[in-house]
Amino acid sequence: MLRPIHIDDAHNLAVLHAACFSDGVWSAQQLADSLALNTTFGYAVEQDRNLAGFIVCQMAADQAEILTLCVVPPMQRRGLAQELLRQAILHAQKQGAETLMLEVGADNPVACRFYEIFGFKQQGKRRDYYQRHSGLVDALLYSLTITGADLHTAP
Ligand SMILES: CC(C)(COP(=O)(O)OP(=O)(O)OC[C@H]1O[C@@H](n2cnc3c(N)ncnc32)[C@H](O)[C@@H]1OP(=O)(O)O)[C@@H](O)C(=O)NCCC(=O)NCCS
Repeated sequence: MLRPIHIDDAHNLAVLHAACFSDGVWSAQQLADSLALNTTFGYAVEQDRNLAGFIVCQMAADQAEILTLCVVPPMQRRGLAQELLRQAILHAQKQGAETLMLEVGADNPVACRFYEIFGFKQQGKRRDYYQRHSGLVDALLYSLTITGADLHTAP
């Protein structure tokens, strides 16, 4: 089941975020601060009333940006991230967004594959953008046009 997320979810979302990322984990305070902005929106997916994943996006004029997207490991490869992404796209379209952007670490081939399968195109990179425990990592910039034609999804 998909549902919008709110500031009250911040603690549970932070626990979930920590289960999905080994680096760059968001604290409950960071999530609460982000969700407090009226330019930010997000959705969670629940399975048997347990949080399984969530997405947070930010609007800026005619662009939306994915700030984070994650699904807990035991629930991955069931199409949940695609569901979250489709819902976020519908929301962003209603807010007038024409493009959906994101940045992802070059050390995250699974996420790159996920976004490419969905139809995102790499637009560039920011060199040495992320500070990992293991050192600096490039950020890859992806975008997807979300106007007009039906959106491509996984085959
Ligand atoms: C990336 C992530 C969100 C994908 O979530 P998910 O719910 O497993 O993704 P979906 O089930 O919707 O996958 C859709 C398609 O993406 C591709 N994909 C997803 N995970 C993959 C993997 N581990 N290996 C290869 N392809 C993968 C597949 O083509 C998949 O379709 P299929 O299962 O029918 O083959 C999840 O792996 C995750 O939370 N990772 C850790 C956090 C992260 O890296 N977030 C993204 C950066 S912000």
